[in-house]
Amino acid sequence: MKITKVETSRLQNIDLNEVQFGKTMTDHMVVSHFKNGAWSEPEIVPYQNLSLSPATSALHYGQAVFEGMSAYPKDDKAVLFRIKDHAERINKSLERLAMPTIPNELFTESIIELIKLEKDWIPKKDGSYLYIRPFVFATDEYVGVRPSSEYTFIAFCSPTGPYYSKKLKVKVETSYSRAAPGGVGFAKAAGNYAASLLATQKAQAEGFDQLIWTDPKEHKYIEESGTMNLFCVIDGVLMTPSTSETILAGITRDSLCKLAKELNIPTKEKRISLDELTQAIQNKTLQAMFGSGTAATITEIESIAVGDITYKLPELNTLCVDLFKTIKEIKHGKVDHEWTTIV
Ligand code: COI
Repeated sequence: MKITKVETSRLQNIDLNEVQFGKTMTDHMVVSHFKNGAWSEPEIVPYQNLSLSPATSALHYGQAVFEGMSAYPKDDKAVLFRIKDHAERINKSLERLAMPTIPNELFTESIIELIKLEKDWIPKKDGSYLYIRPFVFATDEYVGVRPSSEYTFIAFCSPTGPYYSKKLKVKVETSYSRAAPGGVGFAKAAGNYAASLLATQKAQAEGFDQLIWTDPKEHKYIEESGTMNLFCVIDGVLMTPSTSETILAGITRDSLCKLAKELNIPTKEKRISLDELTQAIQNKTLQAMFGSGTAATITEIESIAVGDITYKLPELNTLCVDLFKTIKEIKHGKVDHEWTTIV
């Protein structure tokens, strides 16, 4: 792979103990272009601005998908979490948006090379990590509506502290929808996030941190939060809404479900109605609620507003302690696991 390194790294000017999510980028990025039906050999180049035509298709019609991955420090190495699963998931998103899939090796090998180059940028502070943002967008210079014939794949890295630095106050959204049956809600499509912003902004103006989306048909079942999948513990059972065409199949979500089963924690993936949730809060069988995601990692939910009533939720349940410890140990490479790639 062709690698063009920066002459001088910017790392010496960065305090990795102070970095915030999404604000600091490392020195290099991966780039590959799709043209004439094939992806070009990926290259690593200095992180830089792009020059785009105002008619670039993605800017108008939203053919753009992304992934979010993490690398954690292990001595002088980096531990990449579930890279193959991210390679597979971006292809599901690409297919849904009529975009060309990326060969798994192109995705994984180019990102591994990038991480080899950037591993000194991984913060060592507890709760911090290197966020990796691969994305693909349509680049045809054409204003007609059709799938683009050319695309660009880029992956860059960003050292970060926790996405959320405190427990969240959430509000259940029962008017707006982020996704619809038959739509693109399960994909990591840029437009899903655009669709969520107004409702989230309104909730934030009311003093909440995030929303809990409900199903778009009846607004009776909880689905996911803006940046996270949802979990709750009810009567000793770890529960999460089952994935559907309107819910992102989170890789952290999947990891927690699989590990919970290995740890013999009773676990259910099912439709969770708002009624079931509120009853569990009222009769005190709800023992904890949290969100999960690559960026959000595991974020506790402190209170939840359902209509006009705000319920204070219990502190994290002991059931979760082993689960969270186990996933953290895997992500930090403290135990060998098929999910991790040490670079
Ligand atoms: C992630 O967790 O990787 C996400 O994509 C969430 C968000 C920052 C958009």
